[in-house]
Amino acid sequence: MDKLLVHGGRPLHGEVVISGAKNAALPEMCAALLTAEPVHLINVPRLHDVRTMRKLLDNMGVASETHGERGGISFVAHDALSPEAPYELVKTMRASVLALGPLLARFGEATVSLPGGCAIGSRPVDQHIKGLQAMGAQITVEHGYMIAKLPPGQSRLRGARISTDMITVTGTENLLMAATLAEGETVLQNAAQEPEVTDLAEMLIKMGAKIEGHGTSRISIQGVDRLHGCTHQVVADRIEAGTFLCAVAATGGDAFLRHARADHLDAVIDKLLEAGVQVTAEDGGMRVRSPGGALLKAQSFRTTEYPGFPTDMQAQFMALNVLAQGTSTVTETIFENRFMHVNELSRLGAHIAIDGREATVTGGAQLSGATVMATDLRASASLVIAGLVASGETLVDRIYHLDRGYDRMEDKLRGLGADIERLST
Ligand code: EPZ
Repeated sequence: MDKLLVHGGRPLHGEVVISGAKNAALPEMCAALLTAEPVHLINVPRLHDVRTMRKLLDNMGVASETHGERGGISFVAHDALSPEAPYELVKTMRASVLALGPLLARFGEATVSLPGGCAIGSRPVDQHIKGLQAMGAQITVEHGYMIAKLPPGQSRLRGARISTDMITVTGTENLLMAATLAEGETVLQNAAQEPEVTDLAEMLIKMGAKIEGHGTSRISIQGVDRLHGCTHQVVADRIEAGTFLCAVAATGGDAFLRHARADHLDAVIDKLLEAGVQVTAEDGGMRVRSPGGALLKAQSFRTTEYPGFPTDMQAQFMALNVLAQGTSTVTETIFENRFMHVNELSRLGAHIAIDGREATVTGGAQLSGATVMATDLRASASLVIAGLVASGETLVDRIYHLDRGYDRMEDKLRGLGADIERLST
């Protein structure tokens, strides 16, 4: 298992290119299932989860090929696919559930393994199932698989008015994709407003889908008979950008994040500005300047759905609060077990007390390097940020978690002056 070896204490300077968003690329790869025509995605990030999704689509019979330096992948989902997503692949990546809606919409049937839980929470998919059933699908769960089909005599999903019990990102995406080929109108109330949902909708519209209201809590879709191919550039990854903002804020320095979208990170930027970090939108990206974590003011925050403070940025910002002056409270409202980075940060010298969904961080810690273990994707990023500041050597173990969602993070950090290297064992 690979490890990252970090020698802390160096400020970060220079320019870093932000990759395409993992959480847009994954649903957009599944959207290719909605047509037999070629779909070209560009700016696809080079991530383990993208490779897993390609394997999943390949397993169904989707032809795909990479091309060009611009992270291009083309897909052709011809008519003779096997609409199945096996446990062996789904268990390694929950986003595989995003194949369910497109397969059902295009082929009228799908067999998709239940994803099972993951480190940060039980993460059920009941809302995905409820929404598709409202559109006429018959879905049973047998031997750990969701078996979905249309009732006899029904050749297509039917439009429906669906209000999910809570805001769900991939739930909204699954239902959005299914609705594009349903008969009649579908209205998704309580829809997720994340930029990745909006980017997916824009891709579907290029394919001929009739969608309005994406980016708001109410999305309406008029079903069409078929969709055609398209070329779509994956939106920049706001969570990768936010992670680099926190890294520079923590180490101190001055960096330009090329392609980063400041308008997708308002809640995080507001907290960084209050902490004393300078963040400015500039032509083609975002600039961040910081005196270093110890000279910042810790900020309390609570995670909520977009446009609120993103849960995917909670661990990274907590690492900043560990260093900054003052006591702060971090409240995680989305997932029930997303504080696993806390014990590892404490090994580096952080002072954090957890009470249920709330963590209280005593700032001003002088971190010292240690061996720490990554437990999930964003926790890994938080440990790297802390290691960039801790005195001495920090060894981050199990960084396969990091590789799921960050495109060569150590190369990008080294490009900004960090002393960091990958140890492949
Ligand atoms: C997406 O996960 C992201 N993944 C997650 O990013 C992100 O943390 C999450 O949205 C929240 O923003 C992708 O987009 C591939 P949810 P998703 O459905 O869709 C509950 C990362 O680090 N829920 O919005 O699985 C659920 O348990 C990853 O990149 C149900 O109860 O999250 C959670 O408490 C981690 N039933 C809440 O809703 C359902 O059917 C929000 O989950 C669906 C969700």
